Amino acid sequence: MRIANVEVFVAGLSRTPGSGPNCPMVKITTDEGLIGWGNGALSGGEQAVATLIEQHLAPRLIGADPDRVEDTWQLFQRSTYWRAGRVLAGATAAIDIALWDIKGKRAGLPLYSLLGGKSRDKVLCYGHAAGATIDDAVQSVLSYKERGYRAIRAQVATPGYEGGSYGAGGGQGGGGRPAADEHPARRVRTWEPTPYLRAVPQLFERLRQEVGDSVELLHDVHDRLTPIQVAQLARELEPYHLFFLEDPIPVENRDGLRLLREHTTTPIAIGERYSSKYDALPAITGQLIDYVRNGMSKSGGLTELRKIAVLAEPFQVKTAFQGPADIGPLAFAATVHLDLAIPNFGIQEDPHYGADVHELFQGLPHWSDGYFTVSDRPGLGVEVDEARLRQRPYHPFFFPVIRREDGAIQDP
Ligand code: CO
Repeated sequence: MRIANVEVFVAGLSRTPGSGPNCPMVKITTDEGLIGWGNGALSGGEQAVATLIEQHLAPRLIGADPDRVEDTWQLFQRSTYWRAGRVLAGATAAIDIALWDIKGKRAGLPLYSLLGGKSRDKVLCYGHAAGATIDDAVQSVLSYKERGYRAIRAQVATPGYEGGSYGAGGGQGGGGRPAADEHPARRVRTWEPTPYLRAVPQLFERLRQEVGDSVELLHDVHDRLTPIQVAQLARELEPYHLFFLEDPIPVENRDGLRLLREHTTTPIAIGERYSSKYDALPAITGQLIDYVRNGMSKSGGLTELRKIAVLAEPFQVKTAFQGPADIGPLAFAATVHLDLAIPNFGIQEDPHYGADVHELFQGLPHWSDGYFTVSDRPGLGVEVDEARLRQRPYHPFFFPVIRREDGAIQDP
């Protein structure tokens, strides 16, 4: 069997222009008519991923053996010479997922079976609750709990800086909806850490009063603090027993992570800004994190994430692979297959795909009672409605720019 054709296009998953996410899609067809689908991801750089695949990677695939998934991964990561940055990691991921899909369809087996079979029957997930005020955030958490979620990430807008808060209901990146005359590329929001550091412990104190210990609670700092600021926050949150505190500081600052660890027992999750096992490895072997969070479509695909899970296992680091909407439906399906197979799974982020996305991608992981399951269909088990998907145009997406009161750039 040989690869006969590789098609690439960027699809906008949302009906609302500019609200994202855009998915760089890959369709690989073999000379025997087998079709594999995958997607990469790079919010704010989707066209770069698609162009890299189309112009530079796809020509090497024509006539290649689709069974050689590992060899193809090595080819794109090593024979392209420059090593993996974010664009190559996303492009490799899209192809890798499509080749795994073909492998599963050829074998007549779901991916979790090819990965060693199920280590669990279902995958615990967490949903995203948020509010503009603590009252709103509490109501949002309660509504998730009512729907059956067992783990809930809770975010609240920073008082006085609602539009610049991360994850508090203002759209991806937390920048709020742009005014009608405001171009999204030039959208600027303001934010300050001090009121944020006061508000978050108040939120979790209220939440434990309202939900008791009946659900797991999580929080995402989104890399906005310094090591000592996040050490203060993590200590103050200890009485509320978070499942984890996510992205405490920018991933480049490994010594900062060590400082944080010396000050708190709040579990730490990091990895959505890693691109590879090489990025994740020092935090794993240094026991600097409790959950590793690389994203399937952003870190080289199933071949790479499987290895990251293996590397983490002896260090008792669990997985919390990233799963926001921009991870892409096919990458999300591949992630849940992996979650089912690995022994050191921790938790899975829920991308909250609506009925609309489920119609475009039939057979996506099924949510029930706080857990995801997959079907037993071969490969990813997902049927893509290609005709309709191709009618979903790409709309440029821009993360909002976050600045401090004095005008200086702040991590978004
Ligand atoms: Co995050």
